[in-house]
Amino acid sequence: MIYLNGEFMPIEEARIPVLDRGFIFGDGVYEVIPVYSRHAFRLQEHLRRLQASLDAIRLPNPHDAAEWTRLMHRLIELNEPEDQSLYLHVTRGVAKRDHAFPKGVPPTVFLMSNPLVMPPQVQVDEGVCAITASDNRWLRCDIKAIALLPNVLLRQQAVDAGCVETVLIRDGNMTEGAASNIFVLSGGVLLAPPKNHLMLPGITYDVILELAAAEGIRHEVREVADRELRDAAELWLTSSTKEVLAITQLDGKAVGEGKPGPLFKRMYTLYQDYKNRVMRAPGH
Ligand code: PDD
Repeated sequence: MIYLNGEFMPIEEARIPVLDRGFIFGDGVYEVIPVYSRHAFRLQEHLRRLQASLDAIRLPNPHDAAEWTRLMHRLIELNEPEDQSLYLHVTRGVAKRDHAFPKGVPPTVFLMSNPLVMPPQVQVDEGVCAITASDNRWLRCDIKAIALLPNVLLRQQAVDAGCVETVLIRDGNMTEGAASNIFVLSGGVLLAPPKNHLMLPGITYDVILELAAAEGIRHEVREVADRELRDAAELWLTSSTKEVLAITQLDGKAVGEGKPGPLFKRMYTLYQDYKNRVMRAPGH
């Protein structure tokens, strides 16, 4: 079951007019929210990021947080799996093709749920491989825009190389992955690039930094040089659907010992414990 513009319906019945600006221009924003045991993880944080994306593209938010929450809870109920991946998508609506914003057109609001497919255990145990590429995206990577062609092309490069992710480099610094944020363990310090216009402010990224702070793990938020990426003792990728995974090979070379490192193993456990704890907390 999906939600489209005020109605819940089977996905097969959902129809979007061809003049939808999402289809014509990629003029919209989205969110991906993991649901564990029917509880949406960090929902308010996802809704705050949605608001920031909508503000950045000057599209009024069609719903307040309470209404979004109600719609998502209903969608979770209407779908079978206990663990789901919610996809939320808002476009600037349907209008005659013209780059300028249309006037008085309601936005298109679409929500769907897919089963949450966690990374296979072998990827957790052994890590994954990644390649690097030059970050050729625009300069508003902080907006969770549905126009993802650069990300699609960059991530496909990884898949073509038999890898899981493409780590992006801009002006000598690492920005993020094609569909994830990247952490670097260098000189015993966990490094994360600062949230700015060059990367998506990941919800999982925030969880990792909060856990590092709470556990007294040395960490720094600052620009991460390409050299530090290549000499890293450990590399991790994070996202709502992959949680945290170790990158154990970069451009065909082993990262550290070529297997998930001790800090990754600790963080992976901390993340799972945290998730289980908040999902059981009252109010969820
Ligand atoms: N992508 N950076 C980019 C470019 C991303 O597309 C994503 C997530 C992230 C991680 O953000 P978060 O931790 O909030 O999921 C970083 C989602 C999962 C997607 O497009 O499917």
